Amino acid sequence: MADTPPEKKSKYTADRRIPGAFEGETITRRRMIGGTVHLGGAVATAAIILPSLGFALGPIFKKSEVRWEKVGALADFPDDTYVPRVITLNPDIAEVGKTTVYLRKRNAQFDKGPVDKYNQVIALSTRCMHLGCPVRFVQASSRFICPCHGGVYDFTGQVDGGPPVRPLDHFYTEIRGADVYVGPRFSVNSELERFSPRFPGEELDGIGQYLYPSRPTQRKLPGT
Ligand code: FES
Repeated sequence: MADTPPEKKSKYTADRRIPGAFEGETITRRRMIGGTVHLGGAVATAAIILPSLGFALGPIFKKSEVRWEKVGALADFPDDTYVPRVITLNPDIAEVGKTTVYLRKRNAQFDKGPVDKYNQVIALSTRCMHLGCPVRFVQASSRFICPCHGGVYDFTGQVDGGPPVRPLDHFYTEIRGADVYVGPRFSVNSELERFSPRFPGEELDGIGQYLYPSRPTQRKLPGT
């Protein structure tokens, strides 16, 4: 006996003998209301979640502007001690966007490693590499001291004691004519190799440089 083809299901609810079906209706009212409620819920959830996500993640992908700021004449900076200068890191947030930087001329007696046009003047950040407290250069001991948990850095910014995990960050500097300009900040490991800026507490020696990769917003800076 030949197989009879299965009967095609009608698209009309009335033909499918669904209780309460209307003539010409292709979807049940229950399904229609259920779908509308789900769609409304999805729209409301997206309206709350998407702006929050954008607000939280947006800054991660915003490229920071590379700024160079004049900090004085080259003659103002000795090579055997530091001179503090206040520079603007972020002009959008007024005083909060400023920071103190310690500067001196490069000195072959202390400064090792490759020399290029960005380190004829040494500029050190005052942000402690333990938890970010401001460090202060103490002339009498030729050291940078952090008041928070006793972090100590030597004259070149290398860790000399306490909990900091890496040397003080540096800033690019450039001599233009008779003046010194300070550019972007960069981080260093104990060999003074350059890395794009990392947060305090992020180690850059050994496996640390892989555990704490650069952020997606980072521009490629010379030597990093
Ligand atoms: S923040 Fe500087 S030692 Fe802790």
